[in-house]
Amino acid sequence: MEQPALFTIFGGTGDLAKRKLYPSLFRLFRKGNLNEHFAVIGTARRPWSDDYYRDIVKETIQSFDPTDAEADAFASHFYYLSHNVNDTNHYDELRELSVKLDEQYQLQENRIYYLAMAPQFFGTIVQHLSSQKILTEQGFNRLVIEKPFGFDYDSANQLNQEIRKVFPEQNIFRIDHYLGKEMIQNIAVIRFANNIFESLWNNRYIDNVQITFSEALGVEERGGYYEESGALKDMVQNHILQVVSLLAMEVPTSFSDQAIRLEKVKVLEAIRRYSPEEVKNNFVRGQYDTGKLDGHDFLPYRQEENVAEDSSTETFVAGKFLIDNFRWSGVPFYVRTGKRMTEKGTRINIVFKQVPVNVFHFDNEESAQPELQQNVLTIYIQPTEGFSLILNGKEIGQGFETDPVKLDFRHSCEVTGNSPEAYEKLLLDALNGDGTNFSHWDEVANSWEIVDRIRQTWDQETPDFPNYTAGTMGPQAAFDLLSENEHYWIWQPDN
Ligand code: BG6
Repeated sequence: MEQPALFTIFGGTGDLAKRKLYPSLFRLFRKGNLNEHFAVIGTARRPWSDDYYRDIVKETIQSFDPTDAEADAFASHFYYLSHNVNDTNHYDELRELSVKLDEQYQLQENRIYYLAMAPQFFGTIVQHLSSQKILTEQGFNRLVIEKPFGFDYDSANQLNQEIRKVFPEQNIFRIDHYLGKEMIQNIAVIRFANNIFESLWNNRYIDNVQITFSEALGVEERGGYYEESGALKDMVQNHILQVVSLLAMEVPTSFSDQAIRLEKVKVLEAIRRYSPEEVKNNFVRGQYDTGKLDGHDFLPYRQEENVAEDSSTETFVAGKFLIDNFRWSGVPFYVRTGKRMTEKGTRINIVFKQVPVNVFHFDNEESAQPELQQNVLTIYIQPTEGFSLILNGKEIGQGFETDPVKLDFRHSCEVTGNSPEAYEKLLLDALNGDGTNFSHWDEVANSWEIVDRIRQTWDQETPDFPNYTAGTMGPQAAFDLLSENEHYWIWQPDN
């Protein structure tokens, strides 16, 4: 059932709006989730006309091969307002246009304000939405907010307080686009709909958990942002800790926003807060040097645009989280992420413990078998989507030699090609008021607390960068981190 709503997109001429938001809105329009009763106001500084704006919007949906009539019908819902977020007069114009469109499209005073612009303006915009009486009284007023949500705990807390003066928590939708990805959502189904896994999902049976978010791309045009952020804040504070909490949480009492949040927060609270010494032992940072990938030579990070020649920003992080609760005590959650690694890929490996005794280990034979392969459940987030399970079977023939076999399920390209894109799902969730796949304040606060400790320790010392070759899986120290515990990264390039 279609929910009427007015979307006001701050940053309407920006990259995110063009690459993700307009195409996602179009897919929702095509599927009938948005119909007659929606309108979009795009705002930004540039003085665009409605016609020009609509042409841009139409360009962003060309890959869906719309007919002219379809593209025109969609774009006719879009209106542009040149807007300086600091100028209160501009909010008056915004209010007038909003009221007019509300009548025209019968939007029932439902509003979604989407902040898709530089984070330093988040607080100002929210404050003016309230002071200039843009918020409506009858319908819903929801705020969708992009990352970064602060740059450490204190700034995030301050931003949160400013926003909470205007919007209650249930109307704040903090985007973490990984939570809209199909296979991230599938983690809960794999765990809670399959007894064979959930009953083993603890420190008695799981040896370690590995989460890899590798990227082949460098920092592209985002050097300025990335210099300030680095891999730790860019990926670990949000996406990776969200995945850790989904993997480690207790079974929620129901599959509702509230119940899931409660369980995720408990995990984040139980993640050990490291002392500086523990940070040094459990976290590794890296920065890429020049290197070759797919036959291309790549510049070192320090020579990328808007990056300092002596930059200490990490483009790679590997680390070990420990969760101090009954279920996970003693199980390392290894994470790693980086730019200019061997390939683009997001994978989770759940490595099960060895059987207590290997009865197939025949000492008296010449061909005494090596240790059994550990069972590994792999969840492939992207680019392929699916999961696999490594089991030990018997080698065909005489005797009882064992042989690892892999049960492998991948969604076909046809299925993944047609499945909704993360932003499409998240926009529809926001329209329906469903906060399940968004980060709530308690989660954000805990994640910053965890990450701040790492950052603060790192800031005490100048790292010896660059320390890994572009096109590799990171510095040697990231491998040593696991081998010290007699573990190894299950995902090596080429498997
Ligand atoms: C973003 C980060 O949140 O996620 C980027 O800011 C990163 O640096 C991106 O490249 C990765 O997202 P995806 O969906 O391409 O894996």
